[in-house]
Amino acid sequence: MKLDYLLEKNRRWSDSVKEREPDFFTELAKQQSPEFLWIGCSDSRVAANTIVGLQPGEIFVHRNIANIVTHTDMNCLSVIQFAVEVLKVKDIIVTGHYGCGGVLAAMDGARHGMIDNWLRHIQDTASVYEEFLAAQPDDQTRSDKLCELNVIEQVINVAETTTLEDAWNRGQEVAIHGLIYDLGDGILRDLDVTVERPRTKREMRQKFLSKIKMAAES
Ligand code: CO
Repeated sequence: MKLDYLLEKNRRWSDSVKEREPDFFTELAKQQSPEFLWIGCSDSRVAANTIVGLQPGEIFVHRNIANIVTHTDMNCLSVIQFAVEVLKVKDIIVTGHYGCGGVLAAMDGARHGMIDNWLRHIQDTASVYEEFLAAQPDDQTRSDKLCELNVIEQVINVAETTTLEDAWNRGQEVAIHGLIYDLGDGILRDLDVTVERPRTKREMRQKFLSKIKMAAES
């Protein structure tokens, strides 16, 4: 049975960790103090802790299809609130990835079921940056750019949550970053769209789009 395989792998992992560090689990069980909140895609190839080589306890994680942050998603908003107000994370990292199935599905014009409602957020992003996307030389580049733009929009959405507004008003230091992961070589790249204080949506969109344009030219 597949589940037995999973449980066996877990026992071996637990043994190997305890062998290296006998107190690991007893110490970790007392408290978690992650410095990062990771908001990423559910894609099995973009496993948060694994791709940055960090241990359990080091990253607080929220994942959903296509790493989307919407202002009515109580699940995601609760994760952000808990991470900022209780865990006091210093950095929130929105990580997208090239070849994201959610982004591709949003672009292919086909029906995929209920999920199309979720993917509508990506289509909304595509329409905001319609001109820039239309100017791309081919479909591959267009979908890569939409993966990047999707990260940008989610960075902006995190910045506009009441949790972040309140945190910055209190003087709490917390930054939001946008990263993009390449499935082809396992490398994470900083999109250089960090937000550390309140900004207008217009200001963020203009600045971040120019960063993406500059990166494409270099
Ligand atoms: Co994805």
